[in-house]
Amino acid sequence: MKKIGVYTSGGDAPGMNACVRAVVRTAIFNGLEVKGIKRGYEGMISNDIIDLDRQSVANIIQRGGTFLKTARSQTFMTEEGRKTAYENIKKHGIDALVCVGGNGSYTGAKIFFEEYGIPCIGLPGTIDNDLYGTDYTIGYDTAINTALDAIDKIRDTAHSHERVFIVEVMGRNSGFIALDVAIAGGAEGALIPEDQGDWDKVLNHFNNPKRRKKSFSIIVVAEGDEQGGALILEKKLTSMYPDLKIRSTILGHVQRGGSPSARDRILASRLGSEAITALLTGQKSVTVGIVSDKVVYTPFEQAIKGKKSVSESLINLAEILSI
Ligand code: F6P
Repeated sequence: MKKIGVYTSGGDAPGMNACVRAVVRTAIFNGLEVKGIKRGYEGMISNDIIDLDRQSVANIIQRGGTFLKTARSQTFMTEEGRKTAYENIKKHGIDALVCVGGNGSYTGAKIFFEEYGIPCIGLPGTIDNDLYGTDYTIGYDTAINTALDAIDKIRDTAHSHERVFIVEVMGRNSGFIALDVAIAGGAEGALIPEDQGDWDKVLNHFNNPKRRKKSFSIIVVAEGDEQGGALILEKKLTSMYPDLKIRSTILGHVQRGGSPSARDRILASRLGSEAITALLTGQKSVTVGIVSDKVVYTPFEQAIKGKKSVSESLINLAEILSI
């Protein structure tokens, strides 16, 4: 192995730049050449592939987004698209790949290895924290701090106007972001896809005789909750409690931006560097994660199918602390 290619794919996440920096610098440290593939699989297909040296990744550790850019590629899902990608990879003399992304990106890497035998290491980069094989994903810590900052600000106005605020956060089909920011933000409710009974609890919360009289409330809802998002909850609460003064805020993509937190930069740096170690020690089709502070390799198959669960004890804690 002489030359590797690195790319970011799927939704961007703060810390992706720090991760690519670590991949590039560790590869060069070990005598490898590095190519950067722009826009993930799209760049493989369109041959948008650039040289990277240690200077190319200077002054990016603190930047949000990804300087390599990212995309969700439909063309790579086709055999023809992957064939073109392979031809371009070969043209550039790339022997192995490092992919920073989520489940969709892992799936692309797995198929590519199976079809063309190009070793590929997957690194967990998504704000959702929903990837199996690692305790935390790159970008998650920054995203929850961004959401928390917004909730703290909402609290000020909620308190002044004595209103109920419903805050919808990202997370695709999982409630990691919602549950963590609900606890950290002192919310009275966390509505997450993993807890089926939570809507009843929140809907009945305001006529619970045991409920402490509060002049304002914050309720956090995960975008992926099957029972609905902030606007549906607002409608239901308004029809049940016409006297409540309710406002909804959908935080949206603001959660994806910003300078990565120290935690994310460290995680990204460790994982980026470990991806090169994995390749140098003969790994071919695995993700690299950190579980209980130990580096863990998980075959793509397992990482894609595996389900990481939110903590039951955190669900209980959110409820206990909301009384
Ligand atoms: O996976 C990250 C994420 O931000 C999810 O939380 C969200 O559901 C999705 O991406 C939004 O995707 P897009 O930016 O393509 O609209």
